[in-house]
Amino acid sequence: MDKLIIEGGAKLKGEVTVSGAKNAVLPILAATLLTDEPCEIRGVPNLRDTTSMLKLLRSLGKAVEFDKGRVIVAAGKTSSYIAEYKLVSTMRASFCVLGPLLGKFKKAKVSLPGGCVIGVRPVDLHLKGIKALGADICIEAGYVVATAKKLRGSYIYLGGVYGSSVLATDNVMMAAVLASGKTIIESAACEPEVVDLAEFLIKMGAKIKGYGTPVIEIEGVKHLHGATHLIIPDRIEAGTLILASLITEGDVLIKNVRYAHLGSLMDKLSEAGANVTHAESSLRVKGNRRLKSINLTTLPYPGFPTDMQAQMMSLMAVTRGISVITEKIYPDRFMHVSELNRMGAHIQREGPHAIVEGIKRLSGAPVMASDLRASAGLVLAGLAASGKTSVSRIYHLERGYELIEQKLINLGAKVWREKE
Ligand code: EPZ
Repeated sequence: MDKLIIEGGAKLKGEVTVSGAKNAVLPILAATLLTDEPCEIRGVPNLRDTTSMLKLLRSLGKAVEFDKGRVIVAAGKTSSYIAEYKLVSTMRASFCVLGPLLGKFKKAKVSLPGGCVIGVRPVDLHLKGIKALGADICIEAGYVVATAKKLRGSYIYLGGVYGSSVLATDNVMMAAVLASGKTIIESAACEPEVVDLAEFLIKMGAKIKGYGTPVIEIEGVKHLHGATHLIIPDRIEAGTLILASLITEGDVLIKNVRYAHLGSLMDKLSEAGANVTHAESSLRVKGNRRLKSINLTTLPYPGFPTDMQAQMMSLMAVTRGISVITEKIYPDRFMHVSELNRMGAHIQREGPHAIVEGIKRLSGAPVMASDLRASAGLVLAGLAASGKTSVSRIYHLERGYELIEQKLINLGAKVWREKE
């Protein structure tokens, strides 16, 4: 395993381009199972998670090629409807092949994804949705086995105790597009990545309205054809790069962003006094020492994204004042707190809250990544800290950030890789 060594203190300067959105690519690749015709997906980031999804599609019989950001899914029938444990366990998002397999073949056998360090990650809403469409479901040896003589459109309330569910909305939408009749998904997720999936499905011939709002309406069709699609920019990578410029008091131009997807983050950053100017698809971020502490609560989109919580905590750890960060989506998503405290941060966890008392400067230390976004938060902390930080288990980082160390080095960061 590799670790990332960061010599803190460099002010990031220059230009960087955001890659395609990981959390849009994964369900859209799964959606290609809904047709036997060829599909072309552009703007695909080269990530561990992308490779995992392509491996899964190949295991289901799809011929896929990936080169220079383009995925070509060749024409051809899927030869299997079983998503094996060894593939699903490496990436829980693989569970989003359940909907398309059921939608296309009326049967699916998908391994339960299991939990991860950020939480239990149940799938009750996914199962509730496909059951409502007429699927019979049983759990056999850690697999969800779903079959249906026919899928019929239905009204489905998909809200859970933590609000809407992104991948449950994706799964139900993909199962409903070939069902007969109308499906209404109430309390649907509104994330831009769900909108991107809906737009891809519409290009394939699906009839979907209301996507991006809490009520999605799907009119089932008989057949879906192939389509070509360009993936939206990754708003979480964009947010992470914005904070990298702020935490190092840099001056960075970030290109290929959808400013409209960053609303809640920009709202918090302007409350903190950050200097961010923007055009339609780029923003300029100038860091300064005069940021103010802020309080935030993570919520489903358009609320503050849980995937930016760890990164924001790192920024607040070196911002004057007390910040209270409340995690409403994954109340245990605080693995980064103890690692930041090892770097000298003053953070106290109280249940779903983290109380952050900003200090002047963190000090570099060996720290351990636990999940994708926690590792991003630790890299940000290392960029700002005095001395050297080594972030181990950086395979977590490679799951969701394309060429991140190259991007940071191009901005002047002193970052390199060493063997564990
Ligand atoms: C997606 O996961 C993202 N992953 C996550 O990003 C992101 O953190 C999450 O949405 C929330 O925004 C992908 O899109 C591949 P959820 P998902 O279902 O869909 C509970 C990253 O770092 N829930 O929206 O699995 C769940 O426990 C990853 O890129 C149920 O209770 O998340 C959570 O508390 C991490 N029952 C809340 O809903 C269910 O059936 C939201 O989870 C499903 C979810």
